[in-house]
Amino acid sequence: MLSLVWLILLTSSTLVSTQNLSHAKPKSIFILAGQSNMSGRGGVTNGTWDGIVPPQCQPNSQILRLNSELKWETAHEPLHRDIDVNKTCGIGPGMVFANSILERESGIGEIGLVPCAIGGTNISEWARGSNLYNQLVVRAQAALNHGGLIRGILWYQGESDTENREDARLYKGRLEKFFTDVRSDLMSPMLPVVQVALASGQGNYLHVVRKAQLEIDLPNVRCVDAKGLQLQPDGLHLGSAAQVRLGKMLADAFLQIMAPLPVQSGASKRWGEEVFFLSGTKKPKFPLFLLMHLDLITVDAMGLALQPDGLHLTTMAQGSEKINEEGAVETKVDTVDYRKGAGQDREAEPEKVEVTHLSRRDEKPGTVAEASGKVAQILQSAKEAVSSTAKADDDKKTE
Ligand SMILES: *[C@@H]1O[C@H](CO)[C@@H](O)[C@H](O)[C@H]1NC(C)=O
Ligand SMILES: *[C@@H]1O[C@H](CO)[C@@H](O)[C@H](O)[C@H]1NC(C)=O
Ligand SMILES: *[C@@H]1O[C@H](CO)[C@@H](O)[C@H](O)[C@H]1NC(C)=O
Ligand SMILES: *[C@@H]1O[C@H](CO)[C@@H](O)[C@H](O)[C@H]1NC(C)=O
Ligand SMILES: *[C@@H]1O[C@H](CO)[C@@H](O)[C@H](O)[C@H]1NC(C)=O
Repeated sequence: MLSLVWLILLTSSTLVSTQNLSHAKPKSIFILAGQSNMSGRGGVTNGTWDGIVPPQCQPNSQILRLNSELKWETAHEPLHRDIDVNKTCGIGPGMVFANSILERESGIGEIGLVPCAIGGTNISEWARGSNLYNQLVVRAQAALNHGGLIRGILWYQGESDTENREDARLYKGRLEKFFTDVRSDLMSPMLPVVQVALASGQGNYLHVVRKAQLEIDLPNVRCVDAKGLQLQPDGLHLGSAAQVRLGKMLADAFLQIMAPLPVQSGASKRWGEEVFFLSGTKKPKFPLFLLMHLDLITVDAMGLALQPDGLHLTTMAQGSEKINEEGAVETKVDTVDYRKGAGQDREAEPEKVEVTHLSRRDEKPGTVAEASGKVAQILQSAKEAVSSTAKADDDKKTE
């Protein structure tokens, strides 16, 4: 039950006054994984790619790709050419996805694609500890080396699990575990996942796998349906035109979960058991995943619960309590003042960070007491971090 908890200072990017704000926007990183349709077979016939790149898949200087040597380069099709090396790669959904995101969210900055898909792979081969899994994590971590924010995972897989009744039956659990493990290893428990429901498959148990995909019940996991998308003459893979449609669908789905909207009440029970962060009083409350990996002040802790809104601690310390609208006990625990750094275009100003712990009705006895001590410790380290950064800012200013 106890596991890592992340405490994040919202708005603390502004703590670093020396940062050139026009450079401050982190690269938006997406992991592409699964099997052949994610890798891309559009335009491949008899082992040869026709080289035709649809206009929606054209390169853009804002779209990068992490190559097999873990270096960023301008992305172009086929995205998986040096990753899924034993197959002929063609058009997949990745470039269209990135181009449509840029078109619709121009403020998102550079996009970094991390291709990881391998044709023909089944879900068991992606289990935590496997080569494919490890490669994915290594590549994701390498992608963060020069800064950035992992924004999401695009996942298209399942065909290889449709042949055997038992595998199909176990698919849902295996897939959920895969998503949960990756999120946990990337330390981003709310990381958006957009996956694709298979429309057809070679195996007899396609309907079981498809149902599992459509029914995955984890927060911030969306499923787009490949039904109706045209297969190419091989009868096995999406053609380029279908990949163009799919890439746009993936972008639509991602933008829905990326939006900085208040997390709906009740949406986050499952992952929410283990996450919390400090929230700034002056800023809108962004979903946690937007804050992960910002390379800010991050403190980890153990075993604290989050209330169903996915934003606030369920745990409480001593202090004044009140019952909120949802019937949970709300306790204000502490506040921290820090100095927001003077940026290029703004004055330094103090800002209050408030930590609120909310108790859930189904809280287990004992958790609270145990957690409150930890909260105190965390607050202390957060305060220290904040005041030393503020001090550094002050020092800088007097230079
Ligand atoms: C910040 O970066 C931009 C873009 O490279 C540059 O034009 C500007 O001069 C930089 N400003 C400072 C204060 O370094
Ligand atoms: C691909 O191979 C099949 C079988 O060998 C052949 O019938 C077909 O004409 C080939 N298609 C192309 C486009 O070369
Ligand atoms: C490609 O095939 C070789 C030889 O079978 C194998 O060792 C390697 O793991 C394969 N690579 C991928 C990415 O599938
Ligand atoms: C998954 O693929 C691996 C490698 O091809 C194979 O050994 C294994 O039996 C497959 N597992 C399932 C559940 O299909
Ligand atoms: C590719 O996707 C299509 C559409 O969902 C599906 O019918 C097909 O089985 C997939 N092929 C593979 C090899 O995953």
